[in-house]
Amino acid sequence: GDSHYYDFVLREKNFTRLCSTKSMLVVNDSFPGPVIRVHKGDTAFVNVHNQGYYGVTIHWHGVKQPRNPWSDGPEYITQCPIQPGTNFTYEVIFSDEEGTLWWHAHSDWTRATVHGAIVVLPAIGSTYPFPEPDGDEVVVLAAWYKGNMKELVDEAMFAGSDLPHSDAYTINGEPGDFCDCSNGTANRWIVDYGKTYLFRIVNGVMNAEVFFAVAQHNFTVVGMDGHYIKPIATDYIMISPGQTMDILLTANQSLGSYYMAARQFSSEDVSVTGFDHANVTAILEYRGNPTSPSPPSFPSTLPMYLDFYAALKFTKSIRSLASQDYPVNVPLNITTRMVVTASMNTMICTSCSEGVDNDILASSLNNISWVNPHTDVLQAYYRNISGVYTTDFPDFPPSFFNFTADEFPDNIDLTVQGTKLKVLNYNESVEIVFQGTNLLKGSVNHPMHLHGYSFYVVGTGFGIFNNKTDPEEFNLVDPPEVTTFGVPKIGWVAIRFVAKNPGVWFWHCHLDRHLSWGMNTVFIVKNGGTVETSIRQPPAYMPSCKVPLKSWLK
Ligand code: C2O
Ligand code: CU
Repeated sequence: GDSHYYDFVLREKNFTRLCSTKSMLVVNDSFPGPVIRVHKGDTAFVNVHNQGYYGVTIHWHGVKQPRNPWSDGPEYITQCPIQPGTNFTYEVIFSDEEGTLWWHAHSDWTRATVHGAIVVLPAIGSTYPFPEPDGDEVVVLAAWYKGNMKELVDEAMFAGSDLPHSDAYTINGEPGDFCDCSNGTANRWIVDYGKTYLFRIVNGVMNAEVFFAVAQHNFTVVGMDGHYIKPIATDYIMISPGQTMDILLTANQSLGSYYMAARQFSSEDVSVTGFDHANVTAILEYRGNPTSPSPPSFPSTLPMYLDFYAALKFTKSIRSLASQDYPVNVPLNITTRMVVTASMNTMICTSCSEGVDNDILASSLNNISWVNPHTDVLQAYYRNISGVYTTDFPDFPPSFFNFTADEFPDNIDLTVQGTKLKVLNYNESVEIVFQGTNLLKGSVNHPMHLHGYSFYVVGTGFGIFNNKTDPEEFNLVDPPEVTTFGVPKIGWVAIRFVAKNPGVWFWHCHLDRHLSWGMNTVFIVKNGGTVETSIRQPPAYMPSCKVPLKSWLK
């Protein structure tokens, strides 16, 4: 493949939304940031110059980076932050991904403003598995916070209290016509009657799954997370944070203007917790129409925010293409089996400072609430530095764990903090059943994301996973191949993959609240014995870890 070179200059800039102005960190002065456009199999060298006030890292979400964890990005997992006044060049290696992916900061909540789309076109000389579209557009959904999020998050983490909620969502940087003090800001796409457009949708929202629809237009979902799927003809989608979806939309209406809109999907009553759920909008406008209806029509097919069944109906319809050209390789003989609970809970804080309320909000995987080390895991692993992490992440949840309780049991603190990870041998066939739990009332789905891999979602269901009957229903024929997938809050998801990418790979819930609270851990996938199956040499320079530490971790 070809090489592409990008410079990402990170610096603070003033932006005004919802009638209030704030300074925020962005890439190349734009929000969202620049689009990376490559062909399948290419490599992108992205030189990140940090001209901001705090350390940052960047992750290439959904890019597998074969044997190259050095450029994966999560802070304290594969690298230490790029400090202000310094730069670091990521070598982003594309392999089998094709479609839409995205990049985002992977340090604290910086990804709210530091993110952008990645477009992976078919390799030169090959084509889409559908007719060439007439237009190709990126639609990046994000969350807008009026406050200085860095401060709000640091304070909340220090106190063990609730994390900030957004004030609006945005489409390509603008909240559209329906939020407080946002009328007239909707982005506009001019379309020609009869033409077909590929809209590449990225859910970069910090903490919410969303529904998305376009007024008066059906469309066809053809790809997800950088892999093609069996076409789904629909009039709405539900997309989780971290996920990307490619839709084909034909401009087949009479002249006029139409809203595309998104709103939060939640399985809890968000009016209680104070999430924003005003609709974010952009406008599809037919060219050559002098008298657009005013206002444009709103999508009546956009499900309401509590519409659990609409969400389920859509996610259950996703299937791999599973054709001769795009085969499915689900592992059948599983060698490593794990059951992993994803929980919201409270915890006695062992790393909090004196005077902080000890009973803090936490989240966990198998009751372990992840704590970032001060030296990144990759460096510690590669250079044999001891005392950074332990390898005792449990394969199964503790047997006493009552994950269907409505209330948190009194006087029991089930969750403990730790930097515990799981080691896999090269080429293991892995199955993980994620079990959503409900220890705190009103928890939500958990979009679980795995770095360095895509995985097959072979099954999902409600209640407690039954290891006798549920596997009989697994889809081993055309399960979706994705990098992020929602675990229902009182249900389960079963995934499979082959551990053929050696390295250090983060996995976590893609709600940033839960990520901050510890719903994370790491796979170390060992080398396979040959140079081609081993981690690549590190680059000549990695950002140093010997810099001031985050105060809230002390
Ligand atoms: Cu898109 Cu670890 O994240
Ligand atoms: Cu979660």
